Amino acid sequence: TRTHRIAVIPGDGIGQEVMPEALRTLHAAADRFGFALDLLEIPWASCDWYQAHGEMMPADWKAQLQGVDAILFGAVGWPATVPDHISLWGSLLKFRREFDQYINLRPARLFDGVPCPLANRRPGDIDMLIVRENTEGEYTKLGGIMFEGTEREIVIQESVFSRVGSERVLRYAFEQAMRRPRRHLTVATKSNGIAISMPWWDALADRIGAEYPQVTVDKQHIDILSARFVLQPQRFDVVVATNLFGDILSDLGPACTGTIGLAPSANLNPERRFPSLFEPVHGSAPDIFGRNIANPIAMVWSAALMLDVLGERAAHDAIVGAIEAVLRDGPRTPDLGGAASTTALGEAIAAAL
Ligand code: NAD
Ligand code: IPM
Ligand code: MN
Repeated sequence: TRTHRIAVIPGDGIGQEVMPEALRTLHAAADRFGFALDLLEIPWASCDWYQAHGEMMPADWKAQLQGVDAILFGAVGWPATVPDHISLWGSLLKFRREFDQYINLRPARLFDGVPCPLANRRPGDIDMLIVRENTEGEYTKLGGIMFEGTEREIVIQESVFSRVGSERVLRYAFEQAMRRPRRHLTVATKSNGIAISMPWWDALADRIGAEYPQVTVDKQHIDILSARFVLQPQRFDVVVATNLFGDILSDLGPACTGTIGLAPSANLNPERRFPSLFEPVHGSAPDIFGRNIANPIAMVWSAALMLDVLGERAAHDAIVGAIEAVLRDGPRTPDLGGAASTTALGEAIAAAL
């Protein structure tokens, strides 16, 4: 039998509540589709671990992950005890960078049965794929604070756009657009205000776009693009964006489909030199942790994306089908307007599978 070795990192907050539901679904899928799971349960990459050890991950974290086929990740962050930039740069952002997971794929779909916060939208109207640059851009530690604590205090925070980094995410987005029926790509920019990097990014998009004459390209400044997510969501197919813009769009897109509790993501190293990482778009949600009311679908769908990348296409499709069935007429967590628990939703998905 095929065996997939998966590192399981629940992390903090509701990461710990939704991960068991992803594992429930994975076990059901393994039974039905005849593959085996070799799970490596990881206690680190959490703020509890940080409090006990003074660091987010052990020094040999990479060695411990040697040989895993993929990483399944819940969420990290517990700002009441550890500053977010410490916990995230010490875990999730480190994985993305050290494992060169330079593509972050974030689909958003309006499902049958889910109330849409936008007026007059039906399932099918919103079906987009956000391709987010995931290792550079606005996310850097380059810069510093001068004259700190004086009235002349100055803060400099650099952005980094490498040619290789931008080209590969743009090309990946064009390739994704080629595989979808509409073959439409929106390029997020802000070349009117951000005067060096963004005009350069636009020119690069033009140059790579010339290699894909079948793809229609729509370049939009991020401000109006955000407005159109709300006003004309049907206009979007694939959307490519730099790290920060992609982060913002990937909460906004799912919000337009009812709840961020549905939104999955795949942090990909497409060359497979390193393991890819699959996680919900959402975070640890301290405001609802401990009540068993978090929506587990984002986590379950992320696990399905993982199976797809691992070659289990049929299992992926069946899990997405089970999610669709449960959203149509199954139990609902409060973010979907219901009163069901995390566990009840997870069980319903596994049963539908
Ligand atoms: P968040 O995504 O954790 O929560 C935002 C809001 O959405 C909250 O009201 C929360 O209750 C709700 N929500 C989130 N997921 C939900 C789910 N599955 N079901 C129902 N409701 C859900 O964002 P935040 O509050 O900005 O961040 C909280 C912590 O998580 C911070 O430490 C932050 O840095 C971290 N974070 C981590 C990740 C990650 O690990 N990938 C992503 C985002 C935020
Ligand atoms: C996400 C998260 C992370 C990001 C944070 C927690 C650093 O918001 O995965 O979208 O900004 O990438
Ligand atoms: Mn985010």
